[in-house]
Amino acid sequence: MTSEDQWQAALERIKDVVGENGWLSDPADTAPYVTEWLKLLEGHCRLVVRPATTAETAEVIAICHEAGIPVTPQGGNTGMVGGAVPDGGIVLSLDRMSRVRAVDAENATLTVEAGCLLADVQKTAEDAGFLFPLSLASEGSCRIGGNISTNAGGNNTVRYGNTREQVLGLEVVLPDGRVWDGLRALRKNNTGYDLKHLFIGAEGTLGIVTAAVLSMVPAPRDRVTTMAAANSWDDLLTLFGIMRGRLSGSLVAFEAFTDLCMEITVHHIDDATDPFAERHPLYALMEASCYDDAAAIRDAFEAGLGEAFDAGLIVDAVIAESGQQADNLWRIREGLPEAQSIGTTVIKHDISVPISRLAEFVAAGAPLVAQTIPGAKLLPFGHMGDGNLHYNMLQPDAMDRDDFLAHKPDINRALHDLAVSMGGTFSAEHGIGLTKAGELAHYRSDVEMDLMGRVKSAFDPTGIMNPGKVLAKT
Ligand code: FAD
Ligand code: MLT
Ligand code: ZN
Repeated sequence: MTSEDQWQAALERIKDVVGENGWLSDPADTAPYVTEWLKLLEGHCRLVVRPATTAETAEVIAICHEAGIPVTPQGGNTGMVGGAVPDGGIVLSLDRMSRVRAVDAENATLTVEAGCLLADVQKTAEDAGFLFPLSLASEGSCRIGGNISTNAGGNNTVRYGNTREQVLGLEVVLPDGRVWDGLRALRKNNTGYDLKHLFIGAEGTLGIVTAAVLSMVPAPRDRVTTMAAANSWDDLLTLFGIMRGRLSGSLVAFEAFTDLCMEITVHHIDDATDPFAERHPLYALMEASCYDDAAAIRDAFEAGLGEAFDAGLIVDAVIAESGQQADNLWRIREGLPEAQSIGTTVIKHDISVPISRLAEFVAAGAPLVAQTIPGAKLLPFGHMGDGNLHYNMLQPDAMDRDDFLAHKPDINRALHDLAVSMGGTFSAEHGIGLTKAGELAHYRSDVEMDLMGRVKSAFDPTGIMNPGKVLAKT
């Protein structure tokens, strides 16, 4: 038998394992699975496989292992770095594995399958009287297995940390088809290497996450949300210090964005409205959770904003008077990822630096952009409270899309060098995927690359799991 015949036979066996509802091959059906959210990359695959259970997943992977068929795991396909874009082989979509297996209110944990939408995980926690604190603008379409595999960050990390902090246990189908049952619901467990942490953030290169035990936190009684307008990043940085001091552990989010961000979001996104009478160079969106007295949190916000006004750090501010008003303020921030690419092309960055150096990064980054892509429109925004900025830019009016994108490697290098020179990183929360594999090899040391390569070989010696992602093909 030729290797093509072997593959064909293996693909037929996979179809039998998952049944007729479990696979797609018609290009019209597979299109959403091979094209990424930003529509900059399009991949190809032989089959999209949609198992319904862990056992089916394990059988499929065992067949792929035997036949050497590459596997691209996929959740909601909202990733920003091409990690779920296939280059041949099969896409293994978790979208049919979306059951909540258990809710343990006394232990404050949930056990869910990897294909649960993040929004459904949040709702399940809410129904049980808790909060699942991970929150991203993509929460209606990203899936918890994807969040775990990218160690997603998002808007609430100031208070609750990244996805890693919410995961207690995992179930994983290994690249040879064995199942690792690590679904432990424990908050203390020092028994050898903590394997789950290798899979969290591995972007599907070490195995397929099929289920997880997640930790919930008590539901806050209320929240206070406010937006302030400022003239400079330095002023916003000082404002952050004031708010962190006054609100301490209650401060959940501190997001920042520029006037152009406000303009495009209000223009393109339904229901997004500018709460201020006048335009300002910069805005901060802040939210605090109230576990005790909402009035006390509100007083702390008002006192902090008053101090910032008196010091000339902010020029205007609004405090939401209702949940609806708070949602309206968030609509502006959460509409940004979509608004930024409507009718234009965006080059995105995901840097982080120590919070104390963020303003310096913005100041030093602007001339680099002007030199490298004259006329590019800067659109920085992001999670200022944890030092993570999406230092994005839009296509100049006088430059076509392809010319603009041709500058991407140069502007990446310039801005990534800048972040690294400030003790920062070129990928804070989106991961490496396909598009940043070259940057990983460039910026991480030989020792780190060697160790990562050995981990990959130990878990996946035949290299079938998401080849070319994180670690570039050699
Ligand atoms: P996918 O895109 O399907 O996959 C992502 C990676 O994980 C791929 O490498 C894939 O192979 C792997 N993978 C997926 N599922 C599994 C599995 N079960 N087992 C093993 N590997 C798997 N990200 C942030 O961190 N913070 C943000 O604030 C944020 N905001 C966003 C806003 C918008 C509007 C959009 C579109 C994206 C945003 N993202 C953000 C990026 C993205 O939503 C996250 O990276 C998310 O965690 C990806 O989840 P997913 O289910 O879509 O994963
Ligand atoms: C966000 O924070 O909105 C996304 O991570 C970033 C982006 O769309 O660039
Ligand atoms: Zn982000």
